[in-house]
Amino acid sequence: MTHAVCPGSFDPPTLGHLDIVGRAAGLFERVTVAVLVNPDKAGLFTIDERLDLLRTDVAGWDNVEVDSFRGLLVDYCVERGIRAIVKGLRAVSDFDYELQMAQMNKGLTGPDGIDTLFMPTSPEFSFISSSLVKQVATYGGDVSAHLSPAVFAALTGRLGLQPG
Ligand code: PNS
Repeated sequence: MTHAVCPGSFDPPTLGHLDIVGRAAGLFERVTVAVLVNPDKAGLFTIDERLDLLRTDVAGWDNVEVDSFRGLLVDYCVERGIRAIVKGLRAVSDFDYELQMAQMNKGLTGPDGIDTLFMPTSPEFSFISSSLVKQVATYGGDVSAHLSPAVFAALTGRLGLQPG
């Protein structure tokens, strides 16, 4: 099991996401960060913007690449020979839905199919989510501690705020 995927919406990527990606990069030979293209949900950032931000954020890891996908995550994985999905768990509240998805994804792919590995988020990131960061930033709160410099600059620019 040498190739794992870290899937998500990443609108925008946070330091919590990078915590999981970086630790996965230490465990797997190859990690793909895969951004879901969701035609039903317009994000604050376009898919191309998210890919650019992620590429900047993961530039320090040689074995991490960034991609987007449409449709079922398991189809994306099967087409690429990926056997493992790595998901971060921030709290027990994440677990119910993540467990459902993990079991559905396993069921869709059979006994030799795709397994999901849950990685506890490092405690300093356990309360961070993309949606909360966007909400706080929208009303002028300082979210610079929760984002890479590139993402913070992009977010303040998008929201028309003065950084810092
Ligand atoms: O960052 P998110 O929004 O929590 O990521 C959720 C994501 C993208 C991992 C999940 O919605 C997903 O895998 N979507 C692709 C469609 C799919 O495979 N759905 C069935 C999941 S059991």
